[in-house]
Amino acid sequence: MGKLPVLGHDAVLDAVSAAEAIERVRDAFLRHHSGAWTMPAKVYLESPPFGDFRAMPARGDGLALLKWVTSFPGNPARGLPTVTGIVCLSDARNGEPLMLLDARAVTALRTGAVAAVAAGALAREGATSAGILGCGLHGAWSARCLAAAGYASGVCHDPRPAAAEALAAELGWSAGTKSAVLRCDVVCCVTPGAEIVLDAGDLRPGLHLNMLGADGPGKAEASIGAVASCALFCDEWEQASHGGELTGAIAAGLVTRERVTDLGAVLAGVAPGRPGPGAVTLFDSTGLAIQDLAIAGAALQAWRSGQVEAQTVEL
Ligand SMILES: NC(=O)c1ccc[n+]([C@@H]2O[C@H](COP(=O)([O-])OP(=O)(O)OC[C@H]3O[C@@H](n4cnc5c(N)ncnc54)[C@H](O)[C@@H]3O)[C@@H](O)[C@H]2O)c1
Repeated sequence: MGKLPVLGHDAVLDAVSAAEAIERVRDAFLRHHSGAWTMPAKVYLESPPFGDFRAMPARGDGLALLKWVTSFPGNPARGLPTVTGIVCLSDARNGEPLMLLDARAVTALRTGAVAAVAAGALAREGATSAGILGCGLHGAWSARCLAAAGYASGVCHDPRPAAAEALAAELGWSAGTKSAVLRCDVVCCVTPGAEIVLDAGDLRPGLHLNMLGADGPGKAEASIGAVASCALFCDEWEQASHGGELTGAIAAGLVTRERVTDLGAVLAGVAPGRPGPGAVTLFDSTGLAIQDLAIAGAALQAWRSGQVEAQTVEL
């Protein structure tokens, strides 16, 4: 076996632009919906009291992927990132490893990208402004991807004002209060999910919500009343119903499977999206391995075409 290319954090971001990430992630949802791409359930390995590891496999377009990634909520206090890990991309026809990639960059790109894909499918017609509640790593990439998708104005809010101001300055948006964020057409909640940041009284007609922070058991960013009052969409029902924003409302008996539409079905045109201009739509993102495959496949292509350089290792 030859030398295995390794793309570090910055190389992944050099290889795949926000605009390409959005296109690739959109396409991944369509391919998964059609059955061309497959994805077994994500496996959680708890590491109490620190956090958890997740093993996330997917296969499609001649490639197979495993992401070995973490969520360690206490890490920022120790000067470490919440999310770290490695993506291994292999040839699906013979099993040969093709590339290793930094999971942090892949995750950030694909998470930001899905915010733009969901907004494109579910926000009301003519939506132009985006709000970000929680301007950490994934809030920042949601904002960057929405900006790349044409959201020219936006409001960033974070209890760490410097984080909101830096993100707003980068994109030509503004930093503001939570109320200012909630006046935007599209609102992304990207907080740690340890406390409720949205209640039913915060919602107004025509709003689209991307709920990105609650991506595992025990996390929630919206009250169950708020969730139950929205037109509901998710990335994947099994994950969203067990470890997503929808989980609390489902456990309380307020939401059933019939009320929740998969984003892939909306994108494929086989299920309705927004019920009307005055509806409040809520997309529950828990993060899928097909999104990682979309980004890793694009990065492999960029390296093969000489667009980006890689370190190498000999196994
Ligand atoms: N859906 C997905 O696919 C996906 C992918 C990756 C991470 N996540 C989840 O997203 C969440 C955020 O991850 P991250 O890596 O960006 O974390 P992070 O620590 O970098 O950022 C979280 C931000 O939220 C801010 N915050 C905390 N409480 C807030 C509040 N009440 N209002 C507004 N902002 C508040 C913090 O100050 C911080 O800036 C985590 O729960 C993580 O597990 C989801």
